[in-house]
Amino acid sequence: MRHLLNPLDFSVEETEKLLDLAGDIEHNLPKYAHVCDGKKLATLFYEPSTRTRLSFEAAMLNLGGSVLGFASADSSSAAKGESVADTIRIISCYADICAMRHPKEGAPLVASQFSSIPVINAGDGGHQHPTQTLTDLLTIRSLTGRLDHLTVGLCGDLKFGRTVHSLIEALVRYAGIRFVLISPQELRIPDYIRADVLDRHGVEYREVDSLDEAMPELDILYMTRVQKERFFNEEDYIRLKDSYILDNKKMQLAKKDMYVLHPLPRVNEISVEVDKDPRAAYFRQAQYGVYVRMALIMTLLEVEKPC
Ligand code: NCD
Repeated sequence: MRHLLNPLDFSVEETEKLLDLAGDIEHNLPKYAHVCDGKKLATLFYEPSTRTRLSFEAAMLNLGGSVLGFASADSSSAAKGESVADTIRIISCYADICAMRHPKEGAPLVASQFSSIPVINAGDGGHQHPTQTLTDLLTIRSLTGRLDHLTVGLCGDLKFGRTVHSLIEALVRYAGIRFVLISPQELRIPDYIRADVLDRHGVEYREVDSLDEAMPELDILYMTRVQKERFFNEEDYIRLKDSYILDNKKMQLAKKDMYVLHPLPRVNEISVEVDKDPRAAYFRQAQYGVYVRMALIMTLLEVEKPC
């Protein structure tokens, strides 16, 4: 039985296969309408979510399966003090696969150790968010036709932003990837990503604080929200929250074929005027999230691709 806890749980070849399946799903949706008939997905969300939870649910419904679950810790027995280990033992009796989001780093890993069904990490604290990464990879590949030889700018909260950590881990495996890490000093990437991922793979990267300066060289600009819920004090959040605001003026500095991605939700970091720019890809990205999660559910449940 397989889980998805970290983007590296799938090799480059397996990731490629999954993205190919997601691509086929995008173009032949009706063909997949019954491949998971009778199967159940449990969504165990101990933290707020719109896209991740609902795209998982939409994905399972599109495959003919059903969904059950909870959308906040308060409405589950976690509020009574139940452990993740006990909860997952029970969920294993009710569902065939589960997606878990939790504020504690490593909670889905603990769940996987007590589970008899596949566990998908749908975001654990400021750590990892592998299904967002699969979404990001499918989006980048669909828009540019490749996942190699790209200059990727990651902008905003690189310290607490789990989507950034997972995306870096996944992308360092492709040739010719360069990163420009754009953040205020206080929100730079954690040391373990710098040392164990970037330096270990000999990847080219620069850490800068000016978005304007980085814009002209980027093929992809990945904007992120400052992660309010991970700050220890509100003062710091208020000081840092509007560090970067992407607007039409900044977009003029970018290549004509650069794409803007954002895992969403957006707060202030992308001005709504940018939404009309053909290079704004964040809403298309959210749509890709459904196809990739359909492909992931099929892969983990070992469902055959229909002919
Ligand atoms: C992200 C998350 O939860 O980490 N959202 C998402 O899943 N699309 C990004 C964020 O909350 O800023």
